[in-house]
Amino acid sequence: MIRLLRTPLSRGPGRLLVGGLALVLAPSAGWAAGDLEAGKVKAKACAVCHGIDGIAKRPDAPNLAGQNDFYLAGQLRNYRSGKRIHAEMGIIAKDLSDQDIEDLVRYYAAIEITVTLPE
Ligand code: HEC
Repeated sequence: MIRLLRTPLSRGPGRLLVGGLALVLAPSAGWAAGDLEAGKVKAKACAVCHGIDGIAKRPDAPNLAGQNDFYLAGQLRNYRSGKRIHAEMGIIAKDLSDQDIEDLVRYYAAIEITVTLPE
């Protein structure tokens, strides 16, 4: 299991601790600066497919619960720019601002999940 630990520095130019290794990521639009409460409200628009708990309601939609914010933000930007193509997500992401993306991914990344490996 990889655990991402946010340090106070993570609000600066994208700094992460991954399993004790400090990685400095290219300063993007400050993707770690999302607002959890705002993200929870905005995530209501996604709940019909992804579930308000981040567990998908449709077989073709991925679970977002506990997914890391770096990955989620990248995918949302890819849908928005057209780099990743999907009819529904393209329409949805088109109207998301950078702040919306940061808030939403902060929310989904903050959902705690546990996993049990198969026997
Ligand atoms: C109408 C259903 C629907 C709604 C509403 C919806 N999504 Fe999606 N979402 C999907 C489907 C289906 C996919 C898989 C698309 C693909 O295959 O690329 C997806 C994929 C994603 C992914 C990529 C996940 C991954 O593992 O790569 C993210 C992130 C995401 N959605 C976030 C959101 C957010 C945030 C919202 C609300 C603002 C939202 N979605 C609203 C159906 C939906």
